Amino acid sequence: MFHLKNVSRRFGSHLAVDTVNVEIPQGQMVGVIGRSGAGKSTLLRMINRLVDPTSGSIHFGDTEVSSLSGERLRNWQRDCAMIFQQFNLVPRLDVLTNVMLGRLNHRPTVLSILNIFGREERIMAIAALERLGIEQTALQMAGTLSGGQQQRVAIARALMQNPKMLLADEPIASLDPLNAKIVMDALRDINEREGITVITNLHTLDTARNYCERIIGMAVGQVVFDGPPSELTADAVRAIYGTGADGSQIDETMTSTSINIAAPSAPVVLASERLESANPKPLALAGL
Ligand SMILES: Nc1ncnc2c1ncn2[C@@H]1O[C@H](COP(=O)(O)OP(=O)(O)O)[C@@H](O)[C@H]1O
Ligand SMILES: [Mg+2]
Repeated sequence: MFHLKNVSRRFGSHLAVDTVNVEIPQGQMVGVIGRSGAGKSTLLRMINRLVDPTSGSIHFGDTEVSSLSGERLRNWQRDCAMIFQQFNLVPRLDVLTNVMLGRLNHRPTVLSILNIFGREERIMAIAALERLGIEQTALQMAGTLSGGQQQRVAIARALMQNPKMLLADEPIASLDPLNAKIVMDALRDINEREGITVITNLHTLDTARNYCERIIGMAVGQVVFDGPPSELTADAVRAIYGTGADGSQIDETMTSTSINIAAPSAPVVLASERLESANPKPLALAGL
């Protein structure tokens, strides 16, 4: 059981996360939704201690995560692997090496790493790539892959950590609908088959409804909804997203990715394949 107790985070005078209380049993697939600035990323980053809470505490079983330091903190950060909107791969390294980087915590230089990996790690990395259906890309430079493929590489890298929990910060926000579906299907499959808890921030409501058994809605740092998709009524959606700047009502379609709301007559797959092969997205990669 994972437990956030009265967790708050302040940046200067701004309360980014406000007294959040959430308990998550192992193996749940949870979607966190809310407007931009609601505190979703800060919440996720506190879970793996990229950001520390200003007050409150975080617990995993008997461990108080929020007070860990040194090696125990690094072990925790391995246990809750994180993936990001911009993938954070090393674009000039091959895919296989990127995946094997998941075996390490923090090393000063990439070059020192290159000689470390043994046969066992290579086999493990290939298996992780096979698991995500992209083993054929193993020797390509990561930066040459499409966005959807890069996100799958990032998930394979996360799996190399043998995580108990997978945290994903808007993992499909840069992807076209077909790739968004492939990535969400992969997260769901990992959740169902390995029993790994998945907590994912999502900028679109339909994705959360379709993939998550539990939805946490945030507004101005607070949890304003916590329940299954079936309880997410129009009123609950309004509490999360509020009204538009002009006072207009927020309608559910305004927060939708169109993962599966494409009109049946539209040649969705063909259009997406075209997008994928043209690879039109700038390779806005962080990484080293
Ligand atoms: N490092 C930071 N320094 C100052 N303010 C921050 C920092 N990170 C986040 N914030 C602020 O906290 C609030 C919540 O941000 P964030 O967690 O990124 O929201 P979301 O992911 O829901 O868009 C925002 O007002 C944001 O500007
Ligand atoms: Mg965010």
